[in-house]
Order: sequence, then structure tokens, then C-alpha cells
Amino acid sequence: MRIGDLNFDKTPVVLAPMEDVTDLAFRLVCKRRGADIVYTEFVSSEGLIRDIREAVAKLKILDEERPIGIQIYGNRVASMVQAAKIAEAAGPDILDINYGCPSKHVAGSGAGSGLLKTPELMEEITRAVVNAVNIPVTAKTRLGWCDSEITIVEIAKMLESCGIQALTIHGRTRTQKFKGQANWDLIGAAKAAVKIPVIGNGDVVSPEDVLRMLQVAKVDGVMIGRGSYGNPWIFERSKHYLQTGELLPFPSLEERVEVLLEHLDLSIQLKGERRGTLEMGKHYGNYFHGLRNVKYLKAHLRDLRSFGEIKATILRFIADYDNWQETSSEPSEPEFSTASV
Ligand SMILES: Cc1cc2nc3c(=O)[nH]c(=O)nc-3n(C[C@H](O)[C@H](O)[C@H](O)COP(=O)(O)O)c2cc1C
Repeated sequence: MRIGDLNFDKTPVVLAPMEDVTDLAFRLVCKRRGADIVYTEFVSSEGLIRDIREAVAKLKILDEERPIGIQIYGNRVASMVQAAKIAEAAGPDILDINYGCPSKHVAGSGAGSGLLKTPELMEEITRAVVNAVNIPVTAKTRLGWCDSEITIVEIAKMLESCGIQALTIHGRTRTQKFKGQANWDLIGAAKAAVKIPVIGNGDVVSPEDVLRMLQVAKVDGVMIGRGSYGNPWIFERSKHYLQTGELLPFPSLEERVEVLLEHLDLSIQLKGERRGTLEMGKHYGNYFHGLRNVKYLKAHLRDLRSFGEIKATILRFIADYDNWQETSSEPSEPEFSTASV
């Protein structure tokens, strides 16, 4: 698969953009465990052009993450063009446009998946953004607005004609939001209708799912969102499975703790001790999915604001956990849920 000058000789397994999840710390953790492309959380074009601190902060990227895409959203052509140039100046490899966000705040104001209702405006924005920057532009969207308006084939062709270089499709409609099952057949129908690479997304939570998505939708790459929560190994395990047919075991408790602490350390380095530890609160439970008494551990960790205290508490938990192992369930793949993040 190819996006501009970026060449992927094997099927890329990609980290999805996720607001409040795929910050720099989490992206690095996933990158180090095999994510072939990572994306920032979506960034508001209006926030960028007004130089709003939170929006601008999301543009911070590191060379270690490459190839990385910055994702922007908005519903005004002029703002999107200006924001695209600001994002390009931050040095990403790819600029991605969000045409998928279903939230009331975004889609309700006509941005994100709201643009599925106004394909002429989507076309205008896409052409203008593609013309405004010198890096490859990609887009991420859904199957359509609702079950009776599945427009993805027409949308995919239109976006291709605007010059986007790859398209990610989340196999749900806007009205579905995150409910129901992603429809991989419809992703496949859109893939068959265009020449640009298509990345399939939705409900991929294991290496076996990655293979199934490739078989069902015949896409060029697979994007993983919630399946990466507390589970950054899903990228390297999926790639190993695709290449060899061998399913590597899920990492041991010790490895999970090691990576959690790496994640925490990065979070503190990048955001400071207070914010770094506060924002890790949503991740702890995911790294311990499947183990007993995690609630008790999470409650303890929530109020701790230093790396040392958090590490000591986790190690105490593990030491106790060893005594409980005979009766507790085996560690398993993290559960597929949006609730925990
Ligand atoms: C907490 C959360 C935040 C998200 N934020 C974004 C975002 O900023 N941009 C985007 O394109 N999609 C966003 N998404 C959608 C995901 O990228 C992905 O399309 C969706 O979760 C389906 O994939 P999955 O089943 O692998 O999670 C978000 C999803 C979640 C759960």
C-alpha cells in the first residue's frame, strides 16, 4: 500500500485517531509495539486558526512516531484551508480530514459525519485542502448518515476524485454512533469501487479480526481503535499473525505492568506529574483487564500523583495477585468497550 511517498510493503495495521486517548504518550506506546501509522486526536480547525492552546498542543509530534497523520475537522472551507496549512507546518507525514465524528457537538454543527449530509460541501472542503498543502491528504468517514442513506460508495468515489490518497472507513453509520456491529461487507463494496488504498475500521479487537477484516473487505490496511486500549501489543501480534499464522500469547502480567509504567512515565514527561497522572486514570483498568480486584487497584491509583507511589502500589497489587492466581481467571484480551476511556 502507498500513501504519497510512504510505501508499506506489508499490510499496515494502523492506530485510530481517538480524542482524549491517542495523545503523544499513547501513540508512542503503540508505535513501539508495531503500529504502522498513528494519528493524532482530531483537532478543531476553528481552534487552530484562533490559536487556541488546547488545539495547538495537539499538533505536537515526534520523529519517533513517523509516519504520523494529523487529523483536522471543521465545516468551513476557509477555516479548513488555513488549519490544514497550520497542521502541515507541524511536520506530519499525512493530513487527515475527519468526516466521521458522530457527536452532537461536531456532527450537529455540520462538521465530522455531519458532512455526509452535505456532500457538495464535503467535496469543496476536500478539494480546497488537497490544493492547499504539499503532503498527502487522507480522509476518514462512515458508511453514511443512517441505514436508509448508505452513501459510502459515492462518497469514496467523490473523495478519490478530489485527490485524497487513502480513505479510512468505519463500518457504521452516523446514527449508529458506536452501537451495533460494524458492517465490513459495505467497507468492501466501497473498496471495490475506488483505486486509492482503503483502510478498514470498526470492531477489530484481535489479530484474528485483522485477518478477517482483510478477507471480508479486501482492504489495503486495518485500523484499530478501542481494541488497542491497554493492549498496544495488538499491532505487533496482528502483524506476526498475518505473516506467520502463529498467534503469539497475550503478554504476561509483568509485561503489562512494564508497559503501563512506560506509558505513565511518558505521560508524566510530556504533561507534568499532575496532569500526566490524572490523564492516566482512564488507562489503568485496561492494562489489568481480566484480573480480579482491579476495581480496588483503580480506586487506589486514582488519587496518586507521583510515579513512585503509583509504581509501588501496582507492585504491591501484583505481589498479592500472585497469591490469588490459583482462583482467578487467566489474563485475556481486553474487553471491547468505549466506557472505560
Ligand atoms: C474515545 C474515542 C474517541 C474517538 N475520537 C476520534 C477522533 O478524534 N477522530 C476520528 O476520526 N475518530 C475518532 N473515534 C473513532 C475511532 O477512530 C474509530 O473509528 C471507532 O472507534 C471504530 O473503531 P474501533 O471499533 O476499532 O474502536 C473515536 C472513538 C473513540 C472510542
